[in-house]
Amino acid sequence: MIKMKKIEKIYGTGTAKVEALRGIDLDIKKNEFFGLIGPSGSGKSTLMNIIGCLDVPTSGEYYFEEKDIKSFNHNQLAEIRNEKIGFVFQNFNLLPYATTFENVEIPMIFKGARAKERKARTMELLDAVGLAGRAHHKPSELSGGEMQRVAIARALANNPSLILADEPTGNLDTKSGDEILAIFENLWKQGHTLVVITHNPNISKRAQKVVKLKDGSIENNNR
Ligand SMILES: Nc1ncnc2c1ncn2[C@@H]1O[C@H](COP(=O)(O)OP(=O)(O)OP(=O)(O)O)[C@@H](O)[C@H]1O
Ligand SMILES: [Mg+2]
Repeated sequence: MIKMKKIEKIYGTGTAKVEALRGIDLDIKKNEFFGLIGPSGSGKSTLMNIIGCLDVPTSGEYYFEEKDIKSFNHNQLAEIRNEKIGFVFQNFNLLPYATTFENVEIPMIFKGARAKERKARTMELLDAVGLAGRAHHKPSELSGGEMQRVAIARALANNPSLILADEPTGNLDTKSGDEILAIFENLWKQGHTLVVITHNPNISKRAQKVVKLKDGSIENNNR
């Protein structure tokens, strides 16, 4: 599903130059639960942004579902991000003035789904993450764990093949973190591919494969 060859990412120039990724080779199979670990500044988020087509590498090759991402224009990349990839972030990234329901519905509006289908799918997703009773609350009225479950429901809106999560339990207590892990394991069983950046050993223990980054390189393929 994801194949990378010699991916490099350099930020800035001259004295401000940072080599964030130094030649990453990666192969992530369909329906794999893939964990990405490593110290702060090792390049995890940089790599996630490239996997998620939010940013492009400075050099190297990246194939998403066998297609060279270099062959995609701006609009095609936006379409991949909205329909093929579900993003989950440490700080949830919910729209503060939109309700739980609206936050989950938005990716389907972008896709052009019909209102009736959208509403039904939104309720189904909120139900699946145990938040049907919170549909009309704003993010500020929810707990951290609840906000992250809204973010997961939103990530699933267009039934993406890949779920990409950057520190999804970083701002949560252990119990809420375990709930998020349980949801991820369920999604994995349903056939989704998961790529999860995490410092949470409960999550990396469950991943099928764990890669550790250090100074922009892959340190090893074991735990
Ligand atoms: N937009 C940017 N411009 C310049 N340098 C950047 C930028 N984004 C990240 N970096 C640098 O690239 C390196 C890798 O950063 P990255 O955010 O990928 O690390 P990380 O592994 O996600 O760290 P953390 O665990 O703290 O989130 C760091 O040295 C960082 O300072
Ligand atoms: Mg990061």
